[in-house]
Amino acid sequence: MNGFKEKLAEYISYTENNLAEYNSHTSETEPQRNLVEAMNYSLEAGGKRVRPVLVYAFCEALGTDYRKAKAPACAIEMIHTFSLIHDDLPSMDNDDFRRGKPSCHKAFGEAMAVLAGDALSVLPFEIIADDMELSAEQKIRIISELSKAVGKNGMIGGQVIDMENELKTDVDESNLRNMYRNKTGQLIAVSCVMGCICAGADNKTIESAREYGYKLGLAFQIIDDILDVTGNADLLGKPIGSDVEENKTTFVTLYGVEKAQEIADRISAEAVECLGNAGNSSFLVELTDMLLKRKN
Ligand code: IPE
Ligand code: IPE
Ligand code: MG
Ligand code: MG
Ligand code: MG
Repeated sequence: MNGFKEKLAEYISYTENNLAEYNSHTSETEPQRNLVEAMNYSLEAGGKRVRPVLVYAFCEALGTDYRKAKAPACAIEMIHTFSLIHDDLPSMDNDDFRRGKPSCHKAFGEAMAVLAGDALSVLPFEIIADDMELSAEQKIRIISELSKAVGKNGMIGGQVIDMENELKTDVDESNLRNMYRNKTGQLIAVSCVMGCICAGADNKTIESAREYGYKLGLAFQIIDDILDVTGNADLLGKPIGSDVEENKTTFVTLYGVEKAQEIADRISAEAVECLGNAGNSSFLVELTDMLLKRKN
């Protein structure tokens, strides 16, 4: 598609400018300023910004200026960053690198990393509630969707399944699909849903976008599993081999790299089919393909 890369860069730079602004508010005391520094350290470290890009792409594909969606777009990136900070802790995946830098707990200590993650889990709800672009009805619906996607039956629920599975030797595909749907799929699906809500979409469109998001999320996590085996740590900005070290069952341990890639290809194609009913845009088709072929 003409202009895909330019559009992607535009969405990413709009996200990064607004993230910096939302987290720049001066804090009262020295310890609080240290907390903001730790939050910014992880937020500003980069990353693909896939989730805010999805919010913007759905909003714009449905005919609304994407800038209207800046609060939910930045909110989901903060939630995602909180999930990564906690995911890397010694008590979880115990990974020392993230987004090309020492993980938050390596740079600031474990207690500060826990607290930076905590703070990044609630700031999103503040910025949505205080937003000046969206209607009260849109904000309540977004807060409802987002809190469910994060909570006990959402990303956090998925992380718990992931932790418990480390102790098991009989994890099967249906367990993995359920775990991935929650730990990864929920945040990706709600990104698509929030973009639709910002554009005032009807429920049918929202549900198609959600289905696209779940499928994209599943394919995305399978590729993440593959990259943990075949990837390059410098490109990824995080260690490889972490899954084996932590005794994770993944699509790669179940089926091998080649078959896992085939499964991801198939699910990604199914995701694109859902787009016919929800913001069918060539940008989203190209984005889906790029994420399937990514090396980071
Ligand atoms: C990593 O997410 C965690 C998974 C859900 C696989 P990303 O691959 O989107 O990480 P960043 O944001 O680019 O660092
Ligand atoms: C992470 O899955 C999902 C999250 C909710 C953070 P992984 O543990 O595989 O993510 P990476 O590989 O550390 O980025
Ligand atoms: Mg993990
Ligand atoms: Mg991890
Ligand atoms: Mg991984």
